[in-house]
Amino acid sequence: SSLHSALSRSSSHLARRSYSSESCPERKVAILGAAGGIGQPLSLLMKLNPLVSSLSLYDIAGTPGVAADVSHINTRSEVAGYQGEEELGKALEGSDVIIIPAGVPRKPGMTRDDLFNINAGIVKTLCTAIAKYCPNALVNMISNPVNSTVPIAAEVFKKAGTYDEKKLFGVTTLDVVRAKTFYAGKAKVPVADVNVPVVGGHAGVTILPLFSQATPKANLGDDEIKALTKRTQDGGTEVVEAKAGKGSATLSMAYAGALFADACLKGLNGVPDVVECSFVQSSVTELPFFASKVRLGKNGAEEVLGLGPLSDYEKQGLESLLPELKASIEKGIKFANQ
Ligand code: NAD
Ligand code: LMR
Repeated sequence: SSLHSALSRSSSHLARRSYSSESCPERKVAILGAAGGIGQPLSLLMKLNPLVSSLSLYDIAGTPGVAADVSHINTRSEVAGYQGEEELGKALEGSDVIIIPAGVPRKPGMTRDDLFNINAGIVKTLCTAIAKYCPNALVNMISNPVNSTVPIAAEVFKKAGTYDEKKLFGVTTLDVVRAKTFYAGKAKVPVADVNVPVVGGHAGVTILPLFSQATPKANLGDDEIKALTKRTQDGGTEVVEAKAGKGSATLSMAYAGALFADACLKGLNGVPDVVECSFVQSSVTELPFFASKVRLGKNGAEEVLGLGPLSDYEKQGLESLLPELKASIEKGIKFANQ
């Protein structure tokens, strides 16, 4: 009957609609600092992500070229470039996820904290605009020093009355990427199978890889674990020295940033059991922010997971990182409130 065909037409229409709204809804991703060393390859990788419907590329200069270039790639997302602070609002409006790799990188001999004076101000400006134009977006903070820029962002959002601790993430995925690579090499296991949580923060000794929890299990000696830990903690410096004045990790960071943003999008879209390490507001230790495994969901960080069992070496590492991480967090909070 015509009633039957109308019903079945509308039910298949509904089925299609619910498929498209649950599995592949419209998602806008904005990259702030999109014309930089990280920003450009990150723009490319996000253009390849089928979960993105709109890709917004913002920088103080250079974005028209990057956007025109990336926009010719025949994938789902529409690409738009925005240049200069007067276009920041348009770049942000309607964003679901905002990735921030804006700011200066290290040169040999510098610590990440040496970037504070320049990058703290950049992050403050960008987060003030986020609070105004897209207060509900998930923020993926890449700009260093992450141990301070995340607390700065939190303070800016608190002042604006928009802070939601579930929506602010310091991106520490590159530490996990490195720990996996280095562990696979030492343990002689297939890298694609490897999992290693990395907790703490994102600078030197505050980066604490938990190789005692690494899978697949391998029988590595104490000296090997120490060497792996040190190499993971110094991974950024290894790249800074190899680039010899031309900046820090950009390609591996773009990969790591794309991975973390993809996890955020999957969480927003309702994919279950999406877990990544990230530097978030936390009660896992006495510090207000700490990196550990986080379960990502429709509201962002749905659950901050505990550390699990630590080896004696990791317990020592945890004790000794707390003072530095505490100081970096407090420095960020103080800056945002002055
Ligand atoms: P880069 O200098 O190549 O690029 C930075 C970009 O930011 C430039 O295009 C610049 O124009 C832009 N920018 C500056 N001020 C801005 C503003 N107010 N608004 C928007 N954009 C602005 O540097 P990079 O190598 O891409 O590194 C960027 C940042 O990421 C650095 O702080 C670096 O330390 C950090 N980083 C973090 C990690 C991590 O694991 N979290 C890894 C690598 C690098
Ligand atoms: C990294 O870990 O590669 C980044 O934080 C950049 C840096 O300065 O080391």
